Amino acid sequence: MRLTDQQLEQFDRDGILVLPAVFSPTEVAAFRDAFDAVCAEDVPANIREKKSGAVRTAMGLHLRHPTFAGLVRDPRLVQPARQILATDRLYVQQVKVNVKAAFEGEAWQWHYDFATHHREDGVPEPLALNLHVFLDDVTEFNGPLHFVTGSHRHGAQPTFLDTETTSYDLWCVDREVVGGLVREGRLVAGTGVAGSMLIFGDLLVHSSPPNMSPFDRRIFSLILNPVSNAYTRDNRPDYKHHRDLTPVETV
Ligand code: SIN
Ligand code: MN
Repeated sequence: MRLTDQQLEQFDRDGILVLPAVFSPTEVAAFRDAFDAVCAEDVPANIREKKSGAVRTAMGLHLRHPTFAGLVRDPRLVQPARQILATDRLYVQQVKVNVKAAFEGEAWQWHYDFATHHREDGVPEPLALNLHVFLDDVTEFNGPLHFVTGSHRHGAQPTFLDTETTSYDLWCVDREVVGGLVREGRLVAGTGVAGSMLIFGDLLVHSSPPNMSPFDRRIFSLILNPVSNAYTRDNRPDYKHHRDLTPVETV
């Protein structure tokens, strides 16, 4: 699957691209079944919400289920990343499903991913791409990601480590900075039907509100990073930043 010039321009300008209904309902059903299996496991890579204990994020999934091992090599995910980054030598940095369970799913504070990749893992440059596949319809009601378009073009913002407000420690961006970026760009919610894809880069500022709805919001997320821009520190467990630098091959 190749992105058009117009899609590449949009990605460059806004920092986010939504590709509706890329995966079929049958494929999505298989991803959900695989997710149910890994979600039921009691392992450290299943990180839970502080209050409810519901799984918030399940990580390391390509090493835990053959369906996800196949999905990380799917050309619909890998080829656009190769095109944007202009290299075929991409390694699988992180593979997860962020759940946001009906009624229970809690917020993700304002942040950009490079802050964590750089500080925790020593990734030199903000090149990694986050490729999402929606496992549920993602609507305004069930806690979609919110993005500040164009925020990637303002460079790396100052961050602070939030260990308090959620069950996943995160390098976050101040409210004043978010306010300034929103005045320059615009807020968009990443919504779409199940099977849609969404791509965003390492500097794009994003967050997500709690899920107050009766509908689960499960999103598969693959982070691909150029081998030439690999981690230089191994502070975190492998499921948070995989050490295997073998370039991903498509199936
Ligand atoms: C993230 O920023 O990585 C997760 C946000 C979400 O799943 O809502
Ligand atoms: Mn993030």
